[in-house]
Amino acid sequence: MSAIPVANSILAVRKAVAAARTSGLRIGCVPTMGALHEGHASLIRSAKAVSDFVVTTIFVNPTQFGPNEDFTKYPRTLEADCETCAAAGADLIFAPTAEEMYPPNAFAFVDVGTLGEHLCGPSRPGHFRGVCTIVMKLFQIVQPDVAVFGAKDAQQARIIRRMILDLNVPVQLMIAPTIRERDGLAMSSRNRYLTPIERSRAPEIYRVLCEVRDRALHGERDVARLESALRGMLETIPESRLDYAAIVDDETMTPITQIDRPALIAVAIYVGKTRLIDNVTIPQTTTI
Ligand code: PAF
Repeated sequence: MSAIPVANSILAVRKAVAAARTSGLRIGCVPTMGALHEGHASLIRSAKAVSDFVVTTIFVNPTQFGPNEDFTKYPRTLEADCETCAAAGADLIFAPTAEEMYPPNAFAFVDVGTLGEHLCGPSRPGHFRGVCTIVMKLFQIVQPDVAVFGAKDAQQARIIRRMILDLNVPVQLMIAPTIRERDGLAMSSRNRYLTPIERSRAPEIYRVLCEVRDRALHGERDVARLESALRGMLETIPESRLDYAAIVDDETMTPITQIDRPALIAVAIYVGKTRLIDNVTIPQTTTI
């Protein structure tokens, strides 16, 4: 077992952060739901590169799971997570219970408006309200100078950016790049649900995303044609079911008809029973 301290109570984490701040340290925060992998480790390393005292939060947040989602079976691997955090340079783990985070009489939530209605929104009603509420609570508890989130959760990152802006949260947001397996599959705690045959099929998602991005970069501007190619190729993955595959405005995540601004190609697809998400951006509109 690593020597990294684990705080379970809000009071304990506040005290530890206050002591670090009094010593002049800059506070970083990496919110996670645990089941940590190399993608999370890279977020912690990114936080450590720009701050001195990194708090990794580990909390499987019930309010962001729908009734038929994987809340109860979501992997909980605290001991291994402590090792990952320590190796990546975190200074403190905050691993509260649900009772600690959500008093039974809680009424206030963070409403994310229409930003939560696109992409993952329709199939995960209430998800981003739950994400923003817990992230806001973690920001209030840790009061970090900088917080790091992964680019794989593209919609989450954009919504948190809006929340920080709209609610004047004094934290610097960093979005760190998606970390991929050697075959291109985006790292995710949910990859462990895949059977070996599903795992062998899953890298096709990123391959298709790259191919469609390349078509856009080589001059195809028509979003309907690009989306049709995107869906067509994804639907050839055996035993898969497409949730959505869309090309949207990179900032607002609203539909576009032409690649005439920075765009996001985002996908959610069930491979077997496991819902995987991935995305790539089309950063510029100049044809190559
Ligand atoms: O990305 C995640 O793991 C979660 O949505 C987050 C940001 C930790 C909130 O529970």
